[in-house]
Amino acid sequence: MFESEKLMNEATRAQGAGDPFWHLHDEDFEAPFMTPHLTSKGSVFMGGRNAVSLNGNWRFVIDPMREGLRQRWFEHDNHSIDEWIVPRDYDDGGWQTIPVPGCWTMQRGEWLRYEGAAWYSREFEADAPTGGDRVFLRIGAANERARVFVNGAFCGLHIGGSTPFFIDATSQIQTGNNLVMIEVDSTRRSEAVPMQHTDWFNHGGLYRDVELFTVPAVHISHLFVRLAENGVAVDLTLSSGEDGTAIIAIEGLVKARITVHAGTGSTVLDCTPELWSPDNPKLYNVTASFDADMVTDKVGFRTIERKGRKILLNGNPLSLRGIGVHEEDRDVGKCSDEADIRRRFAHLKDLGANIARAAHYPHHELVARIADEMGILLWEEIPVYWAIAFDNPPTFDNARNQLIELIRRDANRASVILWGVGNENADTDARLSFMRGLVETARTEDPSRLVTAACLINRETFRIEDRLAAHLDVIGLNQYFGWYEPGFEGLERLLANSNPDRPVVISETGADAVAGLNGPDTRLFTEEYQARILTRQVEIAARTKYVVGTFIWLLYDFRTDRRQTRHQRGWNLKGVVAADKTTRKLGFAALTRAYQQHFRDPE
Ligand code: GCU
Repeated sequence: MFESEKLMNEATRAQGAGDPFWHLHDEDFEAPFMTPHLTSKGSVFMGGRNAVSLNGNWRFVIDPMREGLRQRWFEHDNHSIDEWIVPRDYDDGGWQTIPVPGCWTMQRGEWLRYEGAAWYSREFEADAPTGGDRVFLRIGAANERARVFVNGAFCGLHIGGSTPFFIDATSQIQTGNNLVMIEVDSTRRSEAVPMQHTDWFNHGGLYRDVELFTVPAVHISHLFVRLAENGVAVDLTLSSGEDGTAIIAIEGLVKARITVHAGTGSTVLDCTPELWSPDNPKLYNVTASFDADMVTDKVGFRTIERKGRKILLNGNPLSLRGIGVHEEDRDVGKCSDEADIRRRFAHLKDLGANIARAAHYPHHELVARIADEMGILLWEEIPVYWAIAFDNPPTFDNARNQLIELIRRDANRASVILWGVGNENADTDARLSFMRGLVETARTEDPSRLVTAACLINRETFRIEDRLAAHLDVIGLNQYFGWYEPGFEGLERLLANSNPDRPVVISETGADAVAGLNGPDTRLFTEEYQARILTRQVEIAARTKYVVGTFIWLLYDFRTDRRQTRHQRGWNLKGVVAADKTTRKLGFAALTRAYQQHFRDPE
């Protein structure tokens, strides 16, 4: 054994870290930390709960060689480095901090393109739970996977970069000072969802709120209320299989008991709420309680359904004047806050649009809450984007879990009318089976909304023809005639050649434009060119009877390393507003005019 190896062995023994670690392969040291893979089963209904915010400056280090799990950084005590008797490679990261929520990619130039593992840690005061209460950490989102350690113990792993997850830390929380450490790993992986190839920037970090909250041993884990045939349907789920009676109240309308058996209870409340709609975004205060637990929510009641080739909102035909939106900001990356979201929706209203496609992953939960208030409709989706590993069962489990987590989070949001289960996936047998499974999951979790996907043109038949379409309520079609394919003859031929039996929306179309680059509308990347494309696209779509709307791609220019021309320099410029989220291109006015003329709601 080499002298150095002998020393290393002594060192690791001295640290009590057991065998030397450097010879471990990734799968060796990761294995003990792959379970429990937290799923939506661990979710808790959050409405009205008093949560303690753990936002703020956390200690932070990047971990490019994955030493953190290998050397079990989460076990080391945090004595000062000056007191050590043997060296080690981690000293709680206390020498630098970054904000939570935040993306490490936006904190330092050298971290912009850092993709890999990083360790966050912070102390917090708490009281050990009593009387059977449970203590949870709720992480609003961590991109792309996160392992949580509380007071040195591994509490759980979550995979999926855009949905909230819950860590039951009841056994670990102690009265007084506690230490939470979170390994966030933004590595792109071919078997992940999304896989490693996307047209958006991979921001790593704890980029949404982190909270701590306590609930009774038996608590309400899910509450789903929505308008039904003859009243308001309520499904209530408890955290365990208790029997008992829950109370549900809709302020100003009704209060009733729900019999709960084996942890679930359902009823249809006999009441007639004022309908929620974009013109009348009426919200009701809803309260539900079971024994010592009580939750609240603000809910709009409306119906959304498909009849033939029409989408009906509250029984009336609905046209979709839409636009796509990414979560990307020149200064804060993937972080959103209330001001950012309200700015998005103010732009959307100025466009005369009535729906946003929150592409290509679940956006911040405030998006649907503010859309509820403002009367804006939403298409929300999971990042089953491009060439997913459709033949890999763990990949399906991951996608399904993210879909359930999204639906559980936004089930009571009237603004959400469409669940999107995929984007531009080639029509193969494996993909059909995978996506059919996701459609079934969406329908089981939420029979009250429509399911869609952004599909591709069938190039063999040159028709809107995708085997998945038979399983969707609304067929999304991404096409870029006028940009990636010159002229519009192809689009006109495609639409004339197709005969779908259900509504179609153009789920993406657009063109890049450099803000301030003006010239003939035949010259690529000019504002005039983009304006012409958007105008023609909406015109042609609107005169096709089975097309009920368009989602222009998109509202703001966004960061992506795929775009490296002198014009783009790492940004996709299809925004009708520049990356400053202020400068409107000619395309903005063109789209506003187009939506003033087309896809108007029938009088
Ligand atoms: C595709 C894809 C988008 C992408 C767009 C583009 O439609 O779905 O995510 O940004 O093309 O080329 O700009």
